[in-house]
Amino acid sequence: MDPQLYHPLSETVYGDEIWPVFRRMRDEAPDYFLEEFDTYFLTRFQDIWDLLPNPNLSIARGQTTVELLLGQSAAPGQGEALSAADPPYQTAIRAAIMKLFSPNSARRLEPLAREFTRRFLAEARERGGVDAIGELGMRLSVRIACTIIGIPLEESDRLVSDVNAFFDRSDETEGSTPTSLDARDRLVDFIDELIDGHRRRPGDGDLVDALLGIEVDGRRMTDDGLRGTLITGIVGGTETLPKVFAACTYRLWQHPDQRARVAEDPSLCGDAFWEALRYDMPTQMLGRTVIRDTELHGRVMTPGQKVMYLWPAANRDEREFDDPERFDIERRAPRILSFGHATHRCLGANVAQLEGRVMLEELMALDPDYEIAEDEVVRLRSEFFRGFGALPIRFSNGVAA
Ligand code: HEM
Repeated sequence: MDPQLYHPLSETVYGDEIWPVFRRMRDEAPDYFLEEFDTYFLTRFQDIWDLLPNPNLSIARGQTTVELLLGQSAAPGQGEALSAADPPYQTAIRAAIMKLFSPNSARRLEPLAREFTRRFLAEARERGGVDAIGELGMRLSVRIACTIIGIPLEESDRLVSDVNAFFDRSDETEGSTPTSLDARDRLVDFIDELIDGHRRRPGDGDLVDALLGIEVDGRRMTDDGLRGTLITGIVGGTETLPKVFAACTYRLWQHPDQRARVAEDPSLCGDAFWEALRYDMPTQMLGRTVIRDTELHGRVMTPGQKVMYLWPAANRDEREFDDPERFDIERRAPRILSFGHATHRCLGANVAQLEGRVMLEELMALDPDYEIAEDEVVRLRSEFFRGFGALPIRFSNGVAA
């Protein structure tokens, strides 16, 4: 296979020109290998689905592009944090905190999510528009993440700026920039204070309390494990959701007939968000390291080699989805890969779907004929995230911002 076809750090991955490349990879090279990274890049839905639960692949050496492809360390807690540990340790941690993320817990957050969304939209109405990411999605997602974790809401806006800076990218540097490393250090200091605070005075049954109470084989979580797990909660809980919400509003704007159906029947909001998750998964890829020989498409992947799961490519695999390039809010795909699958499946999946649905319901109730200021849209240029960095919505019945 042509080694020039795909490169994870090339500009091609930012925009729409990647879709035909993914198609060729799925058809011609489902185990596309790049010597430079000693890594397989997987694009077929079923391959990824089947490998995710496979214990021959480990998350302990990292999961992100900077960790696995660039050899940089992203967050503390390797081997001890929830999203950096393999079973059985990870299974025990997950079981102990699972109930904070259950469908019932998510439902209990709905009034709060709606109250915040209404407040942000009311403020935005005065201005005539809203950035779906910076002025709505992130402000909601960080507050909900703070509520679950046990962080005072007054801290939420400063956390947003650190989380944004954590993903800072520049055309001059591969992967993390000095700005992103500084933000990581600030987040770690913040989390250390949060943990100390909870040790002195426990919260109200929040995530920090739950983590502090965990014992696996008679041993408490290490401070690094706590830090890494809480960073995943803050960053994972805040950063991805707004991008999917922005994509959802953008696709509905591009498809006025589908938007009209949502306006007529708001019970379609959850389905529309689910389709946006499939169609516009913002995370380019996450991966694992092979720890025992594993066969894939007749080739043996050997210990030390890495495997990257290209979620956006798998979510448009024609082997899994009919006419996958079509955005269709009534598709109701029985399975998608945007929340991963199996061992490390996104704990926040119920919460994320709640937030997306509530924001869309409220936006449609306010103004089903909103416009998008296409010339002011910011598109991301990153090996880690694709999609929108800013998506200005203009209200059809409002004053221009
Ligand atoms: C649309 C929004 C979101 C998307 C697309 C998303 C996606 C993902 C994916 C793909 C994984 C699996 C990683 C892997 O297998 O390597 C994951 C894990 C995780 N996510 Fe999310 N996520 C979202 C929102 C959230 C929210 C709102 C929270 C918390 C409130 C959250 C918390 C977590 C945690 C704690 C894990 C680690 C689970 C583990 O390692 O066992 N996520 N997420």
